[in-house]
Amino acid sequence: MYSKITGTGSYFPDKVLTNADLEKIVDTSDEWITSRTGIKERRISENETTSDMAFKASLEAINSAGLESKDIDGVILATCTPDYLIPSSACLLAAKLNLKTPYAFDINAACSGFIYALGVADSLIKNGLGKNILVVGAERLSSIIDWTDRNTCILLGDGAGAAVLSASSEPGIRSICMQADGEYAEILTCRAGGSNALYDRDNFNIKENLFFMKGNEVFKIAVRSMAEIAVEAVEKSGLALEDVDYFIPHQANVRIIDAAAKRLKLEHDKVIITLDKFGNTSAATIPTALDISVKSGKIKKGDNVVSAAFGGGLTWASIFFTM
Ligand code: UT7
Repeated sequence: MYSKITGTGSYFPDKVLTNADLEKIVDTSDEWITSRTGIKERRISENETTSDMAFKASLEAINSAGLESKDIDGVILATCTPDYLIPSSACLLAAKLNLKTPYAFDINAACSGFIYALGVADSLIKNGLGKNILVVGAERLSSIIDWTDRNTCILLGDGAGAAVLSASSEPGIRSICMQADGEYAEILTCRAGGSNALYDRDNFNIKENLFFMKGNEVFKIAVRSMAEIAVEAVEKSGLALEDVDYFIPHQANVRIIDAAAKRLKLEHDKVIITLDKFGNTSAATIPTALDISVKSGKIKKGDNVVSAAFGGGLTWASIFFTM
């Protein structure tokens, strides 16, 4: 038995924050942001929570799979910006979708979360624990941004992407690779909401608890790891690099994406880029990029897609699947 992506959906809030807008907030320029990252604008949620955005993306995914809410056996939501610590945003999402008795839980593997979630869902299906699992990547990163830090506030955005993973007799997911190295935990953090931060609540300093990243240290590891694990997924699948039709990378930096595409020997038109319009939405970058590519008709049934991500933890992961 295999698992296969049978439906996709995505949602972004309406408010657009451009590089020109950021020039008014911190000492930066459109030229610096564009040349160093490839990002031109991003979306910011004004009043929608992570589970609100996940709900809108999920409705589309369930609909495009030709299913109804009652057909969903489980919900896995990848996020590092859940609505609350308890309950999980997956439970809130399940309630919004009016699902009666699914299992539902969040996964936090930062930007690698959606691929990790697909890995878990694939195993659940292969173990008979559900036929249709809703797998979501959703983030409200604007809630943890330090708007005084030009190193990071220009990178992030909000949004949600969803996919339905279904049991199938034909190959969908062909290989999954997942890795982590907590040695590098300190170079990409957000302490707010964690028990250590709350335990010391009398001394809580909001700035020290917001999103923090040593960008150039992360960059060096990301360039190497994302390219390596993307190639590993293809090799593990038994197919060859020539069989790859499209590459959906995590959308953190166009320079990291170019390096990985080079290792995969892929021409530019085979690489899906959405970060110019949406920035880095962490766990939401891959499912939103997949949905946008499906809706535009670029990625079609039968296409072989490799996807790779890298993020806080540090974590990195890849997947090779046939649509
Ligand atoms: O998604 C999770 C994983 N995250 C990633 O994969 C992100 C990986 N890192 C990156 O993408 C890049 O490291 C960044 C885009 C974050 C930064 O680019 P960089 O080329 O590595 O720049 P840098 O951090 O080495 O900074 C170079 C200079 C510094 O100035 P000095 O010290 O050389 O005078 C920074 O202060 O650029 C300065 N700088 C800025 N200047 C204008 C940093 N941010 C800005 C800014 N505008 N927004």
